Amino acid sequence: MRARTNLNTRTTLACLALAGAAACGDAAANGPATSASTPAAAPAVGPAAFTDYDGAAVAGGPGAGKRFGIGSAAARTAIAAMDRDVGPDGAELPPGRGTVAEGRTLYTAQCAACHGLNGEGNEPTYPRLLGRVADAEGFKFASDPKLPHTIGNYWPHATTLFDYIRRAMPHPQPGSLSDDQVYALTAYLLAQDDVIADDATLDAAALRAVKMPYADRFRPDDRKPTAAPAAARP
Ligand code: HEC
Repeated sequence: MRARTNLNTRTTLACLALAGAAACGDAAANGPATSASTPAAAPAVGPAAFTDYDGAAVAGGPGAGKRFGIGSAAARTAIAAMDRDVGPDGAELPPGRGTVAEGRTLYTAQCAACHGLNGEGNEPTYPRLLGRVADAEGFKFASDPKLPHTIGNYWPHATTLFDYIRRAMPHPQPGSLSDDQVYALTAYLLAQDDVIADDATLDAAALRAVKMPYADRFRPDDRKPTAAPAAARP
């Protein structure tokens, strides 16, 4: 469900940004994506006609009758290739596996320059990742926000680590790591902060089973939007 929502949202955004109203109409005509994990089955959006750009302009305004004439409609397959987020429950985790030892080698080569050999970071630019210290255990951040936040003493979901590294790191080349490499790096960082064993191997099932030490300190925000009382409105 979550992936489908994202896909459709991004389709809309991509249409607005790149192609104008005509291509968005085409995308809608193709119907909702069946699943982000089966992009090949979804029909691709054809080339944009760019006929309707001026239709979106304010009548009589400076954009009326003009067209960008650039870009092309975003194909569903291209959108699906970017629609790779993994939610907290890990349902979207891909196949693959990696060990702590493999992750150590990767970390030293591709991450340590910014985050430090021991994950100590180089604040304020490069965040600290690792290093649980006794003072910061017990989730006492409310009484002292300066206590070091690390993966092991703060993060509620191990799956977020996989998702974040896969999509955002290493900072200069996001998306360059294979899924096996991301599993390995996730394993290494979790092992360094004493969440999993030093000889662990992570795959989708093993990562989903990891319970973060302070997961129970977080509460899902289940508030629903409610209409403000009439008297409170300006
Ligand atoms: C060129 C410097 C650089 C390299 C190399 C780099 N990172 Fe980062 N990393 C950053 C920066 C900057 C941020 C903060 C980004 C932000 O907040 O938007 C960050 C954030 C992170 C975070 C989130 C930390 C938090 O608590 O929010 C993780 C996890 C992470 N990096 C892991 C890695 C891993 C794993 C690698 C190696 C594959 C890596 N990084 C390589 C610069 C780097």
